[in-house]
Amino acid sequence: MNCQLATTPWPEVQADWLVIGIPSQWEPSAQLASVDQALGGTLTRLREAGDLPGKPADLLPIHDATGLAAKRVLLVGLGDPAKLTVAIFEKAMRTAARQTSEKKESQVAVGWDTTGPLESFACLQSAATAFTIGCVGQDLYRAEPGRFVFSDVTILADASDDQETLNTALERGRILGDAINLTREMINRSPAEIDPAGFANRARGVAADCGLSCEVLDENRLQYERMGALLAVAAGSDSPPKMVILEHRGGGDEGPVLGLCGKGVTFDSGGLSLKTSEQMKTMKCDMSGAATVLGAMTAIARLKLPVNVIGYMGLTENMVNGSSYKLGDVLTARNGVTIEVLNTDAEGRLVLADVLSYAADQGADRLIDLATLTGACVVALGEEISGLFTNETAWGEKVLAAAATCGEEIWKLPLFEPYAELLKSDVADVKNIGNRWGGAITAAKFLEKFVAGKPWVHLDIAGPAFASSNKAAREGGATGCMVRTLVEAAENFP
Ligand code: BES
Ligand code: MN
Ligand code: ZN
Repeated sequence: MNCQLATTPWPEVQADWLVIGIPSQWEPSAQLASVDQALGGTLTRLREAGDLPGKPADLLPIHDATGLAAKRVLLVGLGDPAKLTVAIFEKAMRTAARQTSEKKESQVAVGWDTTGPLESFACLQSAATAFTIGCVGQDLYRAEPGRFVFSDVTILADASDDQETLNTALERGRILGDAINLTREMINRSPAEIDPAGFANRARGVAADCGLSCEVLDENRLQYERMGALLAVAAGSDSPPKMVILEHRGGGDEGPVLGLCGKGVTFDSGGLSLKTSEQMKTMKCDMSGAATVLGAMTAIARLKLPVNVIGYMGLTENMVNGSSYKLGDVLTARNGVTIEVLNTDAEGRLVLADVLSYAADQGADRLIDLATLTGACVVALGEEISGLFTNETAWGEKVLAAAATCGEEIWKLPLFEPYAELLKSDVADVKNIGNRWGGAITAAKFLEKFVAGKPWVHLDIAGPAFASSNKAAREGGATGCMVRTLVEAAENFP
């Protein structure tokens, strides 16, 4: 996909689709007025009839665009300019990208009439990301895909803006879009392909492409590192576990280190506490945390951020065989904490326990972990909002601010101290489940025991990581949520 800037007058832009974002209160710019004129006043007539897209992301295609160099026009609503945010702008652009990517090798040109209070570079970056992800579907294995990568995306810039700034925004938007697409692809692939070894091989490849150093710890090494919790989850699988470590050293030898930890359960059957088919059918998505870390690390490297970031991905299946871990087993995690297993489906926290303590031991100064950890978080916040937990308010605020900047939805939930009680075991230091209620919180309380007191943020992405169906603005399947938030948090680190 070629992606470039142009300052061509809109009526002269050659493309299969000329996509134009328009606000609800229509005061046409000179560019839009010239399009209207070339179309013989179509836009004016549409406006007078009240037929222009009013709400954000409403679409109006004009298939017969005689008078313009472009074959067709797609008007996309931006809503009230005073209320325009990056999230609204991007949703509109993603919707337009999805609508225009149904045929092979389309060329699109994209402009917008107003951006209200938004800076033009922010819109440009957002449009570049939206068109990079909007044309990629989840139909990886289909003979007849429903969506095709654009051959060309031309973003129509204002000649009066600083073109260098805009080019930087374009490049950044593309890098983020590619990173999100990588995360989505990893999650959307079949779990037979993305088992721990499949994940690690792909990670090695992308690390080499973008200049990250990559280390893969195999099962022997995990044993040597005393990762008894992760290894117990892996015991029931024929695919040996791995840990992938990706390192970006942009901040010098003395600089602080940000550790990003991802849950990489490449398939979660529940183990002996077996899930139902209904619960299990989307469980290839249970490595979303690890895939998000991988995607974010590629963007951090390609953007050459002047910070030190290390990504840790704990990879295993949660399966059933004669060696599966059992209810009543007592595990010893890397940091020496003993864990009574009372539900083998609460495996994510066991994997992360060892990943987090390894990251802390390796010198991470601050930690963020991401995991499709609990159904309880989906009950609490729904499918579109990630839960945030932290042991240090200021660090939590930074991650919340990063998400707000990128237009991603996170809500802080309490790491309520008294709930630590609910994890008390009669036979070990801790048990791996709480009671029936507050499951997202008790899971976070469990993780807290393994961060060695480091400032830490836990993001439960069980809801937003994987979408059950297509919507106008996004494809079903993996969403790539939080890739951007991680990159933004890294950029603002410490
Ligand atoms: N991977 C699941 C959580 C999940 C649920 C992710 C729905 C995405 C969508 C996790 O390993 C799990 O099974 N959690 C249990 C914990 C329980 C046994 C304490 C859950 O949420 O039911
Ligand atoms: Mn589980
Ligand atoms: Zn799981």
